[in-house]
Amino acid sequence: MPTQKLRVAIIGGGTIANAAHIPAWRDQPSAEIVAVADSAPENARATATRHQIPHASDSFAEMLATAKPDVVSVCSPAHCHKEQAIAALRAGAHVLCEKPLALTSADAIEMFRAAETAGRLLLVGQSMRFYNQIAAAREFAASGQVGEIYCADAARLRRRGVPGHGVFHVRALSRGGVLYDLGVHILDTLLWIMGGPAVVAASGMTFTKLSNRDEGLITSEAEGGAPVGVFNKRTYDHDRFDVEELATAFLRLGNGAVISLRVSWAANVPDNAGGVWMMGTEGGLWFDPRFLDLRLVRNMGRYQVDVTPKLPAPAPNHPFYAHWKEIAHFVRAIRGEEELCVRKEEVVNVLRGLEAIYRSAAEGREVRLDERAQ
Ligand SMILES: NC(=O)c1ccc[n+]([C@@H]2O[C@H](COP(=O)([O-])OP(=O)(O)OC[C@H]3O[C@@H](n4cnc5c(N)ncnc54)[C@H](O)[C@@H]3O)[C@@H](O)[C@H]2O)c1
Repeated sequence: MPTQKLRVAIIGGGTIANAAHIPAWRDQPSAEIVAVADSAPENARATATRHQIPHASDSFAEMLATAKPDVVSVCSPAHCHKEQAIAALRAGAHVLCEKPLALTSADAIEMFRAAETAGRLLLVGQSMRFYNQIAAAREFAASGQVGEIYCADAARLRRRGVPGHGVFHVRALSRGGVLYDLGVHILDTLLWIMGGPAVVAASGMTFTKLSNRDEGLITSEAEGGAPVGVFNKRTYDHDRFDVEELATAFLRLGNGAVISLRVSWAANVPDNAGGVWMMGTEGGLWFDPRFLDLRLVRNMGRYQVDVTPKLPAPAPNHPFYAHWKEIAHFVRAIRGEEELCVRKEEVVNVLRGLEAIYRSAAEGREVRLDERAQ
C-alpha cells in the first residue's frame, strides 16, 4: 500500500534552507515540500520560485494554518526558533530546528516540553554529528577503542570568517557570536564523542577587537561559513557588530574530564588554524580544525601507530551533505524506526555550558553550574 508523503514546510528561506534543507528534503522520496515562509516576502517568493514550492508566505502562522504541514524545518535566525518551533509543534508538525536551538537553556527546555505536550518530535540540527569523520570518531569512542577520554583540546580558528550575511553579529538577535555559531557545533561534537558528561564548571573569556571596524580586507563568503554562497545578501555593517568574535574557555565535566575550547570568526592567525585532540586511556582521536580529517592514535604491541580510517565518501558530494543524513534520520525517527539522535539533555548541557562561559567572562572567575543550588 503506498503511504502518503510527508508534507514539509520551511520557515526562513535563507542560506541554510536553500543550500541544504530544501535540496535534502527534495531528495527524500517519501516527502514533498509544500510551503515556505519568510518574514521578508521577497525571500519567501524567491525561495519558492527557485525550488518550485507551491505556497509562499510572509507569515509562518498563516503558512502553518493554510499548508498544515506534517514536518517543519525551522531555518530562521536563532531569536525566531522558540516561537516558530513551538507554533509548529502545536499545529501538529514534527520540527527540525536549526542550531542553536534557542537563545537560552531555559527556552530550550520550554521547546522540548512543547514537543512532549504535542506528542511530536523535535530534532535539533546538530548536523556535525552526521559528518563521516565525526560519526566514525563517536563509534570508535563508544566501542572502547580510545578508553576513557579525560582531556579534549579543540581550536577552530578562522582568520577573517565573520558570517557576512544574516544577523549572526547582532547581540539582540543572536545573543552570542562565534560561540553560538561554531561553539555550539564543536562543544556538542566533543561532548557527544565523550559520551555526554555534564558540564559542571566553566572559565572563559570573549573578545571583540577586529570585526567592529572596517579593515577593507578581501574576504569570501566561504570564509564566513557559506561554502555554496549566500542567499539573501545584505550590506555588512561593522557598526552593528556587538557579539564576540573570539572565545576561549576551560570546562570541567562531571566525570572529571576537561575540555579546552578556542573558537574564532576573526583572529590574527593563519586561516583555519587549530585542531582537535581527544585524549583517552587506550588511544586518542585527532581532527584537523574543520573536522575533515580524522586519525586514531593507538599502540600496537611495542609500536605507536596512527590509524587513518577509510571513511565513506560524502553522499551527496556537497559541503552540507550532513544535512542529507540528518533529514534521512529524521524521516526514520518520524516513522518510528529510530530514536532521535540528539537528546534534550545534550542540547541543554551545551547551552548551559555556553551560558557559563559568558558569565565567567563577564565576572572574571570560574563559574560552577550548581552555584545556585549551594
Ligand atoms: N547546521 C549548520 O551547519 C548551519 C549552517 C548555517 C546556518 N545554520 C543555522 O541556520 C539558521 C539560519 O542561518 P542562515 O545562514 O540560513 O541565515 P540567513 O540570514 O541566510 O537566512 C535566514 C532567513 O530567515 C529569514 N527570517 C528572518 N526573520 C524571520 C522571521 N521572523 N520569520 C521567518 N523568517 C525570518 C530571513 O529573511 C532569511 O531569509 C541559523 O540558526 C544558523 O545558525 C546552521
